[in-house]
Formats: sequence, structure tokens, C-alpha cells
Amino acid sequence: MERRAIARHPPLEFAIRIGLPLIDGEHVALVRQLDRLNADQDAHPNSDSFSEVLSGLGRQINAHFDSEEDILRSCGMPPELVLEHINAHTEILEQYARLNLDLMAGKFHTRDEALGLVRRWIVDHVLNHDVRIAEYLPRTDAGKASAA
Ligand SMILES: [Fe+2]
Ligand SMILES: [Fe+2]
Repeated sequence: MERRAIARHPPLEFAIRIGLPLIDGEHVALVRQLDRLNADQDAHPNSDSFSEVLSGLGRQINAHFDSEEDILRSCGMPPELVLEHINAHTEILEQYARLNLDLMAGKFHTRDEALGLVRRWIVDHVLNHDVRIAEYLPRTDAGKASAA
């Protein structure tokens, strides 16, 4: 019996950490949803349990992108990088919508295909885009109240 839940790989939880508790918490929550899909061998893309997690995931991703984009616009990142990052979010939301439309239309997706997509939206996106936010965070983030 093999399990491949991401939660069993603590280095990933460290690798996706950017140093902002709000964002890190949201990323961990997203990874947990991916874990749920990975752990449930019966959750095939056209199953009720898969679509239940998928619709919750959609709401979570939307809310997360909103909070992350607020930070992107105010952290001092060059505008072209902010735009590139926001475009990556838009592309994920488009892929999410497309997957839902496919599933509603009864189009078949293998479990690996669907899980691969979700993994790219969550893990690959954090590692390729979100970690760059850390470069623009003040080193004194924890001591915001300290006087000049
Ligand atoms: Fe992002
Ligand atoms: Fe993110």
C-alpha cells in the first residue's frame, strides 16, 4: 500500500515558506487540499468526492490570490514582475474553470492528469512565483512596532 501524500514530505512545507504568516498559512492549507485528493484513491476526477474538494479548492485559490495580489502590489516588487505573477494567477483560474467545464461536460480526465494540474497550480506556482515575494519583504517583519 503506497501513500504519496505531500504532508509526508516536510521539506516541501519548508520549501514553500516565504516568511509571511498569512500567505504561508494559506499555502499550507492549499497543499492540504492537494493531500486530500492524493490520499483518496477513490477520488477520480468525475467522482462526487473529487468535485467537492475541487469546488472548495476553487474558492480557496480565489481568496488566496486576492490576498496575495494585495501584497504583490504593495511590496515594492517591480511592476513587470507583479504583472507576470498576476498573469500566472489568471492562467491558473482559467485552467481551473476549463477543468470544471470539462468535468461538467463529462469529458474524461485521468486522475493523474487532474492531480498533476492541481499540483502545478499549488506547488509549482509557489516555487516558481510566490517564493520571489520573499526578496521584497522587510527583514524586520516580526518587529514592526519597533521605533526608528
Ligand atoms: Fe502567486
Ligand atoms: Fe500563493
